Amino acid sequence: MQTISVNGTQLAIFEQGAGPIVLFIHGFPFDHTMYDQAAEALSDSFRCLLPDLRGFGKSEYSATSVDLETGTPLISMADFAADLASLLAGLQITEKIALCGLSMGGYIALEFAKRFPDQLSHLILADTKATPDAPEARQKRLDLAASMGKTDLSGVADAMVPILLSQRSRRERPEIGNFVRAMIMGQSPRAIAAASRGMAVRSDMTEVLRQTRVPVLCLCGEEDKPSPPDVVKAMSEIPECSRFEVLPDCGHMVPLEEPGAFAELLRNFLHETTSHS
Ligand code: MLT
Repeated sequence: MQTISVNGTQLAIFEQGAGPIVLFIHGFPFDHTMYDQAAEALSDSFRCLLPDLRGFGKSEYSATSVDLETGTPLISMADFAADLASLLAGLQITEKIALCGLSMGGYIALEFAKRFPDQLSHLILADTKATPDAPEARQKRLDLAASMGKTDLSGVADAMVPILLSQRSRRERPEIGNFVRAMIMGQSPRAIAAASRGMAVRSDMTEVLRQTRVPVLCLCGEEDKPSPPDVVKAMSEIPECSRFEVLPDCGHMVPLEEPGAFAELLRNFLHETTSHS
């Protein structure tokens, strides 16, 4: 693990392997460990960078903005993306990178694509969407944020785990549910609140995706409830150059439910869409 001072906070970043860079952005409310097995599988050919986002995992918490309505701390998707660009600068990485974001990580990846398009070689959008929240979903996020510090994170984990995993994962692989539960319970309530408010105010990124000129892979689990296949397929039809893949028997946590298949999809996509001239 390295700790890098970025935009007024200390961010932790882990890495595996050597080769072209793939930067993995974790989802909410998780940390980089959700990608450990997939990164291990890819580390024979790629340099996999696995940061913990501001406030999550081993990275320090500090909010970057304030919600204008409530005066409460907020971390926007753009602020997370700016942290990642600064992290790359801190690591003296100037080459183009493949960026892979799952769910909230995908919202951040699209902000990165908007702000730093020249740093991208490929975009991988896993179990995510380009559209903003409907009012009801937005309110749920604000309610979750308001409840942080008042309720135990076990309640959040109990509510989320069944929604995140496929029927097969829940039935046959209890260790995955246990891992996700422990990962959620290990996060900071303040970071959960600030990122939740950040997701609630995120913009529609459809136009960013339309303007994207790098190859895009959109994928999801067959049983993903937060980002169902029809939503992810529609997103994959927006950019000029994209692919769409569905992983059978997976829910929202594809890199944990099928790390090998997830890694192979990325490997094939990156090999087939990289020009070697
Ligand atoms: C995630 O996995 O990052 C969350 O499902 C994102 C969200 O709540 O929209």
